[in-house]
Amino acid sequence: MDAAEHHPPLETYDVNAISADGAQRSGPQLAIIVPTFNERDNIAELIGRLRVCLDHRSWEVVFVDDDSPDGTAAVVREQAAADSRVRCLRRIGRRGLSSACVEGMLATTAPYVAVMDADMQHDERLLPQMLDVLQNSDADIVVGSRYAPGGDIGDWDARRARMSRMAIRLSRVLVPADLTDPMSGFFMLRRAVLEDCMRHLSTIGFKILADVFASAPQPLRFKELAYSFRLRRAGVSKLDSVTAWDYVMLLLDKMVGRYIPVRFLAFSIVGTMGVAVHFAVLTLVFKGFHRGFVAGQATATLCAMTFNFAVNNVLTYRDMRLRGMGWLKGWATFVLACGIGGFSNLGVASTIYGLGRGWFPAAIAGIVVGAVWNYAVTMMLTWGRPRR
Ligand code: GDD
Ligand code: MN
Repeated sequence: MDAAEHHPPLETYDVNAISADGAQRSGPQLAIIVPTFNERDNIAELIGRLRVCLDHRSWEVVFVDDDSPDGTAAVVREQAAADSRVRCLRRIGRRGLSSACVEGMLATTAPYVAVMDADMQHDERLLPQMLDVLQNSDADIVVGSRYAPGGDIGDWDARRARMSRMAIRLSRVLVPADLTDPMSGFFMLRRAVLEDCMRHLSTIGFKILADVFASAPQPLRFKELAYSFRLRRAGVSKLDSVTAWDYVMLLLDKMVGRYIPVRFLAFSIVGTMGVAVHFAVLTLVFKGFHRGFVAGQATATLCAMTFNFAVNNVLTYRDMRLRGMGWLKGWATFVLACGIGGFSNLGVASTIYGLGRGWFPAAIAGIVVGAVWNYAVTMMLTWGRPRR
């Protein structure tokens, strides 16, 4: 017996019979992507300002929230219940400003896409002008610039101003020299730009604009609009000292990422620091406390592994950082994996040494095999198959 005997046949209908009518039903022209982490008190104000300055235009705002503990997503949902132009994309167990922006851009169908902060630092009154430029010229991207004539960096302290200028100088390896503010987090682009570069983006760290410029297959035609960087309205900045490390990783990824995964480079840099920790602990226990060599070596190995795990967790795997119980479990899997890595290092090194190839190449081969093993296994076992 088949199901058709029990049910009347389904009605057929013409999907083209009802046309998409009215501006209300057509998709938005402009999407504003706003990455958020603990921005609860800025959401309503930002939406209010967008309503005012984008009045008569067709737009939507996509908040990309990394599961903020302050309940930002709930506030966005509340706003969305009253206005369908407000959308919320949530990511769980992930962090990262650039990757949040990219995922937000991919979640909209609008032909023009802007990125801005949630904290009112970027002047929303620039948005209509940016859209006009894209619609009435051949520019691919319009950048809100703090360094173009007429713009300024507001009340930044001297240290941050200096860091920003240094970052701009460094960025010259990736982006055109005449872009005055390659570190800007405020810009608008045509959808085609995104389609062209989305598979090449690194999405590491904070600097999404530099990433877009460096990933575009052809040089982008850009225009700059000056604005004054305002003070953050509520909440605190998420920019910290590790942002500088992320930025160097972005530059490295753009330069050598095609050949070597940048996470592996980071992992190797941390591993090298771990060797220094090992020798420091060994010297202390063996020479300082006059314990046996084996006891010293064992203590040093465990300390170095713990150091490597903790530092990799903060730097290399910052976007999937383990905390609390997760940290302890992660540590255990890391020590286990690296213990096995140590044996494979020994195995390879002694085999090559046995073949009479000399102690130095044998040691290097062992280290490389051990490092690759440790990297590959802990990536999957400890941090769980990271995807930017
Ligand atoms: N989803 C998500 N995930 N959002 C994040 C994360 C994250 O890990 N980290 C920060 N954000 C959000 C913040 O909530 C804020 O809306 C925006 O990204 C920028 O973060 P801020 O903490 O306000 O950074 P900033 O003001 O110091 O620097 C910003 O502006 C500069 C000038 O345009 C950034 O956009 C810089 O890249 C930019 O140079
Ligand atoms: Mn900000």
